[in-house]
Amino acid sequence: MQTLVFHINPAQPDQAAVAHAAAMIQRGGLVAFPTETVYGLGANGLDAIAVEGIFKAKQRPHSDPLILHVAHWSEFARYADLAGVEVLVEQLATAFMPGALTLVLPKLPCVPDCVTANGPSVALRVPAHPLAHALLVAAGVPIAAPSANLFSRPSPTTASMVLEDLDGRIDAVIDGGSTTIGVESTILSLCGAPTLLRPGGVALEAIEAVIGEVLLPAEAVLPEEQTQPAPGMLLKHYSPRARLLLLADPGQLQQVASRHHDGKLGLLLPSDSLQRLRHIDAERIDLGDDAASVAARLFKGMRELDRRGCTHILTHYLPLEGLGRAINDRLFRAAEGKVGPGQ
Ligand code: TXA
Ligand code: MG
Repeated sequence: MQTLVFHINPAQPDQAAVAHAAAMIQRGGLVAFPTETVYGLGANGLDAIAVEGIFKAKQRPHSDPLILHVAHWSEFARYADLAGVEVLVEQLATAFMPGALTLVLPKLPCVPDCVTANGPSVALRVPAHPLAHALLVAAGVPIAAPSANLFSRPSPTTASMVLEDLDGRIDAVIDGGSTTIGVESTILSLCGAPTLLRPGGVALEAIEAVIGEVLLPAEAVLPEEQTQPAPGMLLKHYSPRARLLLLADPGQLQQVASRHHDGKLGLLLPSDSLQRLRHIDAERIDLGDDAASVAARLFKGMRELDRRGCTHILTHYLPLEGLGRAINDRLFRAAEGKVGPGQ
């Protein structure tokens, strides 16, 4: 299959190109598109055969459910049972939608089982990116979309990262430039007490400021019928090919960097840490000086160091606050759960 590339300026979307991409979705095709978090691989979320194509193109296990994207949160009631959580949903929507927050709610029967991995709940999100919004409006259907990468690879934040994994496997990609946030949405379950399933683009502290205490997965007692305890709970996720050497303590950088590694070392670090290792012979990616820039550059940096042939990538955790929580979560998974200087 030939993958079409639509170059569309997000500030002034070419309506004919958007309509063309939307028609592909309506006909059951697969179209990757930018959101403010990462690029998604979209299909008509009410068409089980089209959704099946997503799993095939990504080589994704069917046990991993998909997020349904809609143009406005008022559409949630079509796909989810909001009984008992209307006020909560309205508070969250008012504060964070459109945006990088996904809500998990009890699903209604119209949502195909392949979207929810046969589970009782559905994940819903309203992306803020103008091209995602334009595509949703033009398609007139909810769009099921996981991140547009091959399963277990770092999520794409540019169209060329999408093509690196999926060229020839999908109908089209809308190239709208780099995504702004760079890590995926925050996933909050409202099936029972509000529970954080995945930290992401909206900070936990911001959510708690609106709705009060949110449980973390370890604290939550999950309903037994839930398909999986938490999204992306699989380790070996968001992984570069190189081995990630993840430190909790930046103070250990020098020691680990100067150790002899068989192969080629890559440094994936915030500016100040990179500066401290200026005498080390390595490939380097500067993640910038704050959590927002680290998030925006993280996945691209992992892929870039792979491209340069690095066998090891040295990095460290950020403080566990704001976007730092999502960044550390992705680093932990990319390191397959191994943290510390002994790697
Ligand atoms: O920012 C994002 O969320 C991006 C953009 C494209 O919207 N999407 C994304 O999708 O990251 P994906 O499939 O790569 O990650 C979504 C996660 C999956 O790990 C899945 O397990 C979880 O959401 N998920 C989906 N439906 C769920 C449900 N009903 N219950 C619990 N987790 C769910
Ligand atoms: Mg993903």
